[in-house]
Amino acid sequence: MAKITVIGAGNVGAECARQLASKNLGEIVLLDIVEGIPQGKALDMMQSGPVCGFDSNIVGTNDYKDTKNSDLVIITAGLARKPGMSRDDLLAKNAEIIKSCVKGAVKESPNCILLLVTNPLDAMVYLALKTSGFPSKRVLGMAPLLDASRMATFLAMELNISRREVKAMVLGTHGDLMVPIPRLTTAAGKPITELLSKEKIEAIVKRTAQGGAEIVKHLKTGSAYYAPGACSAYMAEAIIKDKKESILTCAYVEGKYGLNDIYIGVPAVLGKGGVEEIVELELTAEEKAALQKSAASIRKNIEKLIK
Ligand code: LAC
Repeated sequence: MAKITVIGAGNVGAECARQLASKNLGEIVLLDIVEGIPQGKALDMMQSGPVCGFDSNIVGTNDYKDTKNSDLVIITAGLARKPGMSRDDLLAKNAEIIKSCVKGAVKESPNCILLLVTNPLDAMVYLALKTSGFPSKRVLGMAPLLDASRMATFLAMELNISRREVKAMVLGTHGDLMVPIPRLTTAAGKPITELLSKEKIEAIVKRTAQGGAEIVKHLKTGSAYYAPGACSAYMAEAIIKDKKESILTCAYVEGKYGLNDIYIGVPAVLGKGGVEEIVELELTAEEKAALQKSAASIRKNIEKLIK
């Protein structure tokens, strides 16, 4: 049976753990440094099992020893944004948290796959790679799937069709310079460029790039968690069930898309080995330039961390 640890029992971590449990993916461990919170939330989730129809065991803990031999460790710990903050404002504080979580996790589970969720995402995944010493295929990040889910939602609202009929393509950083690609985004199989005006598409692209901030503005005390939790659990399922599904992932890119030594949003085939392949799409000159700009913004953060 698979064992999955979720580090951070805040809103994102707890929602992710709940989704993992409801998918019956295996044994779930929810770890946090705050005493009582993971224990209480784990028990509460278990008690939803009889009516929600799942039997997954969920252990709440403050001790990394309980995470021993996890197949997958999902790191959600860290500070969330407050209104007016960019994800990059979290860099220094969350870097310390990520280093300590990665060290704790890797000591107990030297063969695990690490899935990062904490912001600023692209830089945190790179830091996790360096801290863990793992091969890059076993270290990945969540957020491009979230950005694409947001874009798909806005498009479905506009087109008045099922959200599941929309396949959105968003590459690049999980930040202001993310790269939604309308040309490769389809609704019921048709490119959205044939279905909507340029202006409508531009407005949706803009709303997607600001999708996280829009929710922070509403919530005031933190950032989104239902969709981030769901997207993390979706990726976990692809890994644990060895689905070989191509999923938008913050993955290590070396040589493809004209990029080197960077974590950035690209489609990647996920399976039990982690990132099993990076899918390289044909991009237009304009899209390539946007991706390079996006990569430059990630590199800026990485340089602040590594030096
Ligand atoms: C978001 C934050 C969590 O996109 O990055 O909602």
